[in-house]
Amino acid sequence: MLKNKKVILIIGGGVAAYKSLDLIRLLKKQECEVKVVLTESGKKFVTPLSIASLSQNKVYQDIFDIEKEAEMDHISLSRWCDIILFAPITANSIAKLASGRADDLASTLILASNKQIILVPAMNVRMWLHKSNQNNINKLLDFGYLSIGPSTGEMACGEYGEGKMSSPEQIYEFIKDYFSDRNIVKNKKLKALVTAGPTKEYLDPIRFITNNSSGKQGYEIANSLAKFGINTTLISGPSTLKKPVNVNIIKVETADQMYMETKKALPVDIAVCTAAVTDFKPTKYEAKKIKKNTINLNFKRNIDILEFLSKNNSQRPRLVVGFAAETNDILKLAKEKKNKKYCDWIIANDVSNPEIGFNSEYNEVSIIDDKKVEKIEKNLKSYIANKIARKIINNFIQ
Ligand SMILES: Cc1cc2nc3c(=O)[nH]c(=O)nc-3n(C[C@H](O)[C@H](O)[C@H](O)COP(=O)(O)O)c2cc1C
Repeated sequence: MLKNKKVILIIGGGVAAYKSLDLIRLLKKQECEVKVVLTESGKKFVTPLSIASLSQNKVYQDIFDIEKEAEMDHISLSRWCDIILFAPITANSIAKLASGRADDLASTLILASNKQIILVPAMNVRMWLHKSNQNNINKLLDFGYLSIGPSTGEMACGEYGEGKMSSPEQIYEFIKDYFSDRNIVKNKKLKALVTAGPTKEYLDPIRFITNNSSGKQGYEIANSLAKFGINTTLISGPSTLKKPVNVNIIKVETADQMYMETKKALPVDIAVCTAAVTDFKPTKYEAKKIKKNTINLNFKRNIDILEFLSKNNSQRPRLVVGFAAETNDILKLAKEKKNKKYCDWIIANDVSNPEIGFNSEYNEVSIIDDKKVEKIEKNLKSYIANKIARKIINNFIQ
């Protein structure tokens, strides 16, 4: 799959640089062509000799290489490759790229590139979480750069937290997926719609009913679908989450607004309804704040967006996926919901367990289609999203 793919690997000056040697080995094993650029600081951590031996190519280190002056490495390298992988990328290089500086071969080559840039950050947890670093990395993600990790764990400095470089195997898997799925999916020009988050149903100008959904699972699914090259629109209820990169986001508050925006987003090939749409809304909205002693609430059913999508025959998406958040008899109730709503798959999750589901980083789900039930054990919502996105893609590329 990676045969003859051309990768530029930039190795920055981080203590995790040694992991990139293993990555070169993994890529070469798949007959991938690898050219390595080493930053000045990178040289303090890994030697050009070991890189040259593993990559079977010269190591590029100097933007002003007197012997190569005529070739202008920063342009020729960026045109030669399919992707540029910066692993590990330091806080310093992240800041440089975010500000568009070009004072060494690595930064100049990225600025001059028209290829996909993939970053693999690695640094101490405080460096990673520092506001300036977070602003910089978000800026790069907004440029359309992709990022692998960092993961959470014990660091070389002895501290614990987020900032650890992803393993060579994780990076390798990411690149493999990037080339395989992305190309196939992109050619199909698929469009997806994801709904996420809760909705708010106002009683008066300041009071509303809602639920505890954070929107995290839906945001992660939109993110995964977009990473696979699917043109993705995310219709989100109130949520504090960051907009996923390369996703078109539409923010709404009420179920009625979510329904209207869903209708506008059609036609799409795929619809994934993760939103915890509030089932009921007040029969009457009071334009002025309701007084304590006059409260008298009555509710009516909200429109069912999942059912609308599944039964909307003229513009029915080719695949409609619903979520069933249940607290008991999870599989039984989810199957009933699937039949009642006419969706193609239903994804059941247990929201009674505070360690998974609503407002947690983790989830555990079962995907129910017409033939089987596929369980995805407890894992990060990003992992679950990737699994779901992959299953969706498999459905379209078979
Ligand atoms: C022992 C040591 C380990 C370091 N590890 C990291 C690291 O893991 N991540 C990081 O962002 N910076 C790290 N630094 C700091 C960078 O090496 C420094 O910011 C350097 O300027 C980065 O250069 P570059 O971005 O051009 O590679 C480390 C420095 C030292 C001395």
